[in-house]
Parts: sequence; structure tokens; C-alpha cells
Amino acid sequence: MTSDRVAHPIPETAYAVFGNPIKHSKSPAIHTAFADQCGDDITYRAVRVEIDEFELKATRFFQRGGGGLNVTLPFKERAFQLADESSDRANQARAANCLIPLPGGKLRADNTDGVGMIRDMVANHGWQLSGRQVLVLGAGGAARGVMHPLLMENPAQVIVANRTAERAQALAAQFSGHKVPVSGGGFESLQGQTFDLIINGTSASLDNEMVALPEITLTERCCCYDMMYGAEPTAFMRWAASKTPWAVSDGLGMLVEQAAESYFLWLGKRPNTRRVIQALRLQLSL
Ligand code: ATR
Repeated sequence: MTSDRVAHPIPETAYAVFGNPIKHSKSPAIHTAFADQCGDDITYRAVRVEIDEFELKATRFFQRGGGGLNVTLPFKERAFQLADESSDRANQARAANCLIPLPGGKLRADNTDGVGMIRDMVANHGWQLSGRQVLVLGAGGAARGVMHPLLMENPAQVIVANRTAERAQALAAQFSGHKVPVSGGGFESLQGQTFDLIINGTSASLDNEMVALPEITLTERCCCYDMMYGAEPTAFMRWAASKTPWAVSDGLGMLVEQAAESYFLWLGKRPNTRRVIQALRLQLSL
């Protein structure tokens, strides 16, 4: 039996990351690598969006059939506001880095940053988080974004410390209903305390600065994680290494894992992240 039907290729679906600035985004390379692995026919572009045009551009993107959008600084809070519905983790972060189109033209907001960080720590590095004394440095959007997934790992306690103490207190208060004790304050309140996981969620590393901490003790099993990454160890990582902790990591794995979670939300597939992290690490070192 013959058929006169011609097999048309399925048109590729458009994905993108919106931000400002966006020039150095690694998201297109990461998602293209995921799509190659999974055999998906997609395009993924980094788009610099003018500050007052985010809502317009995002709405138009989905009206034209966009399959999914990542959102980075400074639009994460506005992405959360724009969506018709949102996940628990986006609600807790009050910010979204991932928008998913729903049938009927509605949009769902999610936040994959926190789960990306936890997956990097636990699955990629083998760190244990339950029962640990955790210090989170910073009380901005980055720190807030990881609080909920962090608390879900059942650490013994989480202390949030920030240059502006009131912001740390407010962030801790937002999570005070959780069974894990959470408290917040200025850096000076850390004097003499002991930790076995320290997470840097400040943007000080962008200026190659380490936050001004008083004398604290790192346990033998202490792990230190900077949400930032770069070709060289960040100022926080250098500080951490001088305290001889058990392990130190930057946030390159978090970047790839948050992307993988977005990919899963859009396309229902979990790409292999290790190969992509290794490739990016190699690129950074060149
Ligand atoms: P993001 O969304 O990246 O978290 P943000 O909301 O502007 O950005 O927050 C930046 C965080 O880094 C804040 O916790 C900020 O401290 P303040 O709240 O006191 O401003 C912190 N930060 C930035 N530069 C810092 C520095 N040099 N020393 C200490 N903390 C710093």
C-alpha cells in the first residue's frame, strides 16, 4: 500500500531567557545541549528586554507560540506577578525564573533556582543537609529563592545573616512557620557560632568581595557553597578554603540544575546534567 502523505517535520518550538543584562547568559548553550541529548527540535535564545517592556514582550512571546521562558535579573518578581498561577516554591520566593504556558493561554510561574542548588549539593556533590547547622549569607532575592527548598531538606537550623540586619530578620520571619528554626540578623550576631553548611547568597562576589564576618567556627564536615561562579574561585570560596572546610563549591552546577528543572517543566524530560556541567567548566577554564 502506498501513501501520498508527506511527513512534515514538526516545527521547532521557541524557548528563551529574558533579562537585562543578558549578554553573558549560558542558558542558550545549556538548553541547546539538553535538546541535543533529548532529540528535541527547539530554539533557545537569550533576549535583552528593556526594563519597562518585560510584561509586553513576555505576553507577546507566548501569544506567538513560545514553549517556555526563563527569566533572570531584574525581572524575576515581575514574572511571578505576571503569571495566572504559581507553584509553592515560586510563592515562597515571591519570584519566578520559569514561565510555563498552560492550555487556554494562561501562564504558570515556577522557581527552579532553589531546587537547582539543592540538587547540585546533594546529587552532584553528595553533601548531606539534614540535621545541619546552616548559615545563609544575604537576604536579597537570591537568598529568598533558596529558603523553601533548603528548609524542605530538614536542616537542624537556618540562620540568615545580612549586612542590613533588618532584611535578614524580615526574611527569617517569612519562614518562621516552618518546623526548622529560622532566625535572622546582622553579621555581628554570628560571633562565636558554629556551622556545617555556609551558603553565600550575597552579590558581594560580583565585586570580588567577601562579606565582613566576625570569628565563626566551621565544623570538620562543613561545606561552603557560593551561588555565584566564575573562571576563578570567588572571594567567598577563597575565604572558605582558608578555613579548611570539608568541601567548597561555586554555583555553576546550580545554574545547570535550575535549567534542567525548567526543561523538565516544559518538555517532561530530565537531561543528563553532569556532562553539561563538565563542558561548561572546561569552557570557563579556557
Ligand atoms: P539578589 O536578587 O541577587 O539577591 P539583591 O536583592 O540586591 O540581589 O541582594 C543582594 C544581597 O547581597 C543583599 O543581601 C546585600 O546586602 P544588603 O541587603 O545589606 O544590601 C548583599 N550584598 C551585596 N554586596 C555586599 C557586600 N559588599 N557586603 C555584604 N553584603 C553585600
